Amino acid sequence: MNHFDYHDGELYAEQVAISRIAREVGTPFYCYSTATLVRHYTVFADALKAAGLDATVCFACKANPNLAVIRTFAELGAGADVVSEGELRQALAAGVPPGRIVFSGVGKTLHELEFAVAKGILQINVESEPELLLLSQVAAARGVRMPIALRVNPDVDAGTHAKITTGKKENKFGIEWTRAREVYALAQSLPGVEVVGVACHIGSQLTELEPFREAFLRVRDLVALLRADGIDIRRLDLGGGLGVPYDGETPPSPAAYAKVMAETLGDLGCRIVVEPGRLLVGNAGILVSRVVYVKEGATRTFLIVDAAMNDLMRPALYDAHHAIFPVHQARPGEEPVEVDVVGPVCESGDTFAKQRRLPPMRSGDLLAFGTAGAYGAAMSSTYNTRPLVPEVLVKDEAYAVVRARPSYDEMRALESLPDWF
Ligand code: LLP
Repeated sequence: MNHFDYHDGELYAEQVAISRIAREVGTPFYCYSTATLVRHYTVFADALKAAGLDATVCFACKANPNLAVIRTFAELGAGADVVSEGELRQALAAGVPPGRIVFSGVGKTLHELEFAVAKGILQINVESEPELLLLSQVAAARGVRMPIALRVNPDVDAGTHAKITTGKKENKFGIEWTRAREVYALAQSLPGVEVVGVACHIGSQLTELEPFREAFLRVRDLVALLRADGIDIRRLDLGGGLGVPYDGETPPSPAAYAKVMAETLGDLGCRIVVEPGRLLVGNAGILVSRVVYVKEGATRTFLIVDAAMNDLMRPALYDAHHAIFPVHQARPGEEPVEVDVVGPVCESGDTFAKQRRLPPMRSGDLLAFGTAGAYGAAMSSTYNTRPLVPEVLVKDEAYAVVRARPSYDEMRALESLPDWF
């Protein structure tokens, strides 16, 4: 459910007309709805509570690292899951207390570990032995023991797109299942870390519960083994991954997901950490774009829009489907036509949709890409020297530009010509 609806044939975000933002901010732009963010967080957090779980929801900032988005969740009591110093700084700047931040990622650098230890965050999810040894040194040098979980790779097939599956043994993530006990024993022997838990994340955009159940049961078995080894496991970080509908999928509800968690792990007396990203922000955002040209090709009609693959990479990268809808609904009697919706970038991959049925559109008309709040702006680039798209946050009848479109001078400001020119 979201708060992008038509009023009198025109698309609104809450009480703000999209066409008004387009006029005032220019296109393309990302638009997020506060009410939708709040609703998603609340439904998710309430589902965990209702299942009797003592859970901390750490928003996976990678899905949408905008300061105002993170702040919206922070005000609701959310924590943050970060994967870089940049995201950690962003979460802190947005007001997430360090005690609610977990740091994940396979390649944390020395500097990033030092920074995280200095900030006193809740937990670092360690993904390899070399990282474990380095972290212990870093923390011991500061005279602290850093609370850690080891991210284990449960070798479960998440049944999702190959590029976003992470829990199979051939993936680079986590510590191999069969070696987990050994690495835990090593961790126990180190002076700079305090083992508090097990972490696990098997992939993203999961539309079935079974892979979660399988992974959670494996975590359960591991907890029993580790406890038998005398390790006080008291926290379980179960990652993110619950999918959202893009194209008629029916992913499990937060309540069903929480139920699986409670059934498999609820009796272990552990504090649960979850790291949802897409679920919280996905359908709270749209990308708004304007039609530049309608071009009649030899075999099809192209709608050439002013957003491109650099602004929303998911279709080019994962063949992902995003709903596309007109900002002004079809007038009576207008029949949909089949079009290819493409951007201006010089690659055939810059195609948002093929043979999509849309009301007839003309140059200058506005359209919106749905479910663009997750991994949309977050993954954008300046390819073709296109400025990053601005982000707008709506709240009731107000809106604010929460990330500005950079000027060309600002884009060039980090570059310089060597003095030999
Ligand atoms: N925790 C960890 C350790 C992760 O690696 C991820 C996502 C999450 C949590 C959040 O997962 P979510 O709840 O959002 O599924 N760019 C891709 C998705 C990449 C996901 C990477 N890891 C896409 O656009 O589909």
